[in-house]
Amino acid sequence: MHKIDIDLVEMTLDVMKYTIDRVSNTKFDIGIPKKAEELKALVGETITPKGVGGEYAFDMWKKHLSKAVVPIDHPRHLAFVPASPTRAAIMFDLVTSASSIHGAYWMEGAGGIFCENEAMSWIVSLTGLPEGAFGVFTSGGTAANLSAIVTAREHWRENAVHKTQRGLIITSSGAHSSIKAMAKVADVDILLVETEDVMSEEGLQDCINSLSKDQRERLFAIVATGGTTNAGIIDDLTGIANICEQENLWFHIDAAYGGGALVADSVRHLFNGIERADSITIDPHKWMFSPYDCGAVIYKQPELAKKAHSQQGSYLDIFKDEGAHGFNPTDYQIQLTRRVRGLPLWFSLATHGTNRYKEAVERGLELAQIAGRLIKNAPHVELVRDPSLSCVLYRRIGWNPEDYTHWTYENQKSGFALVTPTKWKSGNTYETVSRFCFINPDTTEEDIKLILESMK
Ligand SMILES: Cc1ncc(COP(=O)(O)O)c(C=O)c1O
Repeated sequence: MHKIDIDLVEMTLDVMKYTIDRVSNTKFDIGIPKKAEELKALVGETITPKGVGGEYAFDMWKKHLSKAVVPIDHPRHLAFVPASPTRAAIMFDLVTSASSIHGAYWMEGAGGIFCENEAMSWIVSLTGLPEGAFGVFTSGGTAANLSAIVTAREHWRENAVHKTQRGLIITSSGAHSSIKAMAKVADVDILLVETEDVMSEEGLQDCINSLSKDQRERLFAIVATGGTTNAGIIDDLTGIANICEQENLWFHIDAAYGGGALVADSVRHLFNGIERADSITIDPHKWMFSPYDCGAVIYKQPELAKKAHSQQGSYLDIFKDEGAHGFNPTDYQIQLTRRVRGLPLWFSLATHGTNRYKEAVERGLELAQIAGRLIKNAPHVELVRDPSLSCVLYRRIGWNPEDYTHWTYENQKSGFALVTPTKWKSGNTYETVSRFCFINPDTTEEDIKLILESMK
């Protein structure tokens, strides 16, 4: 398996050819998922004692399996939070794999970690956090949020009074599901300020004022959102920072989706207050055009994360020795062995320069405004709210939830587009509506027009 022979040379050429075709192809269909039984019937047994051979396995991938995945970078994939990795980043993802770098400790990964840190310094500079702030790349926003919550909790527990107390955090009901999920993993209670709109200073203060004495003692962190997944809404970061400072609470901002927009001059002011956070989540695999997976967690005081996450073991002592001295990413988040997943971002940033990132993010924002205008001008659809960041919520007049579901499947089945419904709360009821989220700068006005027309 580890030999270099003619089969390996041929496989390498096949893989490179496939990769070049895939990244240079601008006209491809949205894939259609099939049931596992259907896929099994198409490809048969692939894991056998003798192996089916690379050529056959790759053939099965090309003919059947790759057609059953949705290319998230399709310009008419506007569901969830899409992705649009740059070609430079994708190419360097191959280099990252080929280089077999262990990205946990400087001793083994210095060159790769150096590059990651160059990219991280740029991200940190976008936040305006004070000198000394720094971060690490994680597998995504979920892992970043968990790493931050655990850091906050461990810091809180340094006070002997809290040693055996169960922690409590507050966020809004518009926060991403991963906040609630990660509170479960960290075994802390969570309270929600009931709003899918902006979590305001007042709303948060009212929630804190309503806590019992026991709850107030257990409260250690507030999680604000810098761009909600559903609607692109940014909480009142300055107001929330005021409260966190007055009440001595950890201030975490989940900007997994919206964080990319920090680079865009047109909306940067909406994030004012972010520079006062204790920790921030930003996902480069969302709006910084990195391939999956690449999240990031940033701390105002990274030494607190180190206290919470640094692993101890006799087999790890050498990494902490003076001779191996350097930045060890494992110390700042939950994972030990890790891919240097910030390396593709570094290469792409180095290749294109940060101005091109600014332009690409501004294009996503502009596409949301274009979509808003097209919706206002079409009689069969209407805006649910004005576009926020790159999210647009709109309704097809007269449709019920089943109509949206049917339309979504029909578009996917024909390979045309993937736009999925969501729910938006107006008053006390949830309405099913349609949602665009723009990331890909290759999406065109014509794409949006075609999608809206398909709702007629
Ligand atoms: C605001 C927000 N936070 C967290 C996450 C979770 O990130 P990931 O899927 O990278 O774990 C998402 C994903 O869409 C998100 O939009």
